[in-house]
Amino acid sequence: MSFDLVLFGGTGDLAWRKLMPALFQAFRHGTLPEGGRIIGVARDDLNNESYRALIEDRFNGVELAKRPNADEFARFAAMVCYLRMDLSRNQDYEYLAKCLGERKADTVVMYVATAPSLFTNVCEQIAAVGLNGPATRVVLEKPLGHDLASNQAINDTLRRVLREDQVFRIDHYLGKPAVQNLFVLRFGNALFEPLWRRETIANIQITIAEELGVEMRGAFYDQTGALRDMVQNHALQLLCAIGMEPPINASADAIRDEKLKVLQSLRPWTTETLGQHVVRGQYAAGAVQGQPVGGYLDEKGVQCGSTTETFVALRTEIANWRWAGVPFYIRTGKRLAGRDARIVVNFRPVPHPIFKAPTGLVNQLIINLQPKDGLELHLLAQGAAQRQSEPALSPVQLNLDFDQRFGTERVGAYERLLLDVIAGRLNLFVRSDEQEAAWRWVEPILQHWRNDPVGPRPYAAGTWGPSAASALIARDAFCWNEEA
Ligand code: BG6
Repeated sequence: MSFDLVLFGGTGDLAWRKLMPALFQAFRHGTLPEGGRIIGVARDDLNNESYRALIEDRFNGVELAKRPNADEFARFAAMVCYLRMDLSRNQDYEYLAKCLGERKADTVVMYVATAPSLFTNVCEQIAAVGLNGPATRVVLEKPLGHDLASNQAINDTLRRVLREDQVFRIDHYLGKPAVQNLFVLRFGNALFEPLWRRETIANIQITIAEELGVEMRGAFYDQTGALRDMVQNHALQLLCAIGMEPPINASADAIRDEKLKVLQSLRPWTTETLGQHVVRGQYAAGAVQGQPVGGYLDEKGVQCGSTTETFVALRTEIANWRWAGVPFYIRTGKRLAGRDARIVVNFRPVPHPIFKAPTGLVNQLIINLQPKDGLELHLLAQGAAQRQSEPALSPVQLNLDFDQRFGTERVGAYERLLLDVIAGRLNLFVRSDEQEAAWRWVEPILQHWRNDPVGPRPYAAGTWGPSAASALIARDAFCWNEEA
């Protein structure tokens, strides 16, 4: 199958850091279909040779095991070419159409890795020159809009010029092997399904913690904040995966229908819950891994006195028969105490305890997403050498470490998703109605914050966020996993 992959934003950060390395990995693994062409598009004055030289130079920065040797690079580079375009000029799209028309590849992927403000314009322009035919697939990076109205406006434009099944909205969390495994855990095994409900589960905690600060993206991040950057997309997608009903089959729409229902069932916000169930924070100076780091307000590109949140903790509920009354806690932030993404399912204690068990210990299923992926099942057991006649229970843990079981090789999230786009598989991409439902739910929080004079609560870099996040969960008589 021949394909052309047009990479708008071909000299941008995402292309260098994620897309080119992912394409190379797919090439190395032999999974990138042969007969493909990768066309980097940008305004820079480059030609094929100088663009390839830039890629080679950037590859020197990736970890050693993922770097190409000279022969591999030469073969990969032969697939890559460069097209200089000014994305505001119609003639440049006509020229692109001419180049693509000469080859007539079976599949044409338009990866729009540009500033979000250009998304609609690029899509309209490719349609204007007839590049929106059935062979075309358009990939859009997040953020798709900054609120519900702007997201709807983008989706309206997309609907005018493309069919929904031509639009691949990326949420790279769905490309992570551990997240795909979550679907397999739930729907490929019968074991947990009977337990996956309000009668047995006390609460579920979703944490996506980062040690990094905003790095070189201060100006972008300052307009965005953790709610839009992480909660609206990645965290809610995890919530959907954990809370959805079994889909009728593994097709993209069956899965997305069920995810949509979760988003539509999220308990609507009230003034009271907005005040009590959402905490925002902003990192101040502190230390990460023993190294002193500055505060958010000292980051390059961040406005003086900015009230952008770098941390969010919130409590919600999925209001349906399965989950009514079960709190779901979401927590994400930058410059936290560790890099750790995990979902903790806390089961209820036994209804009538007959053994002496340490207080506070409950059965837990921990789904580790990163840095290591795997499962931990926490149970209570009695030690074999115990001499007292009355059994005393101790915590024990069953570990499924995916590295040990399957080896350390991973298909990276972008590699997986790029291959899926080329193959036309939509399972791991977000549909417009899902995305709009997520914005609809997030919107009242944004509005509440706009009118809230208090602003984000400061937390020292290298901690688990502001103490209000602990107070939020303590009100339900629970605690975050690491506080137990
Ligand atoms: C991106 C956010 O979507 O996800 C970044 O824009 C964040 O701010 C990143 O750092 C986290 O991704 P990962 O895969 O490193 O957990």
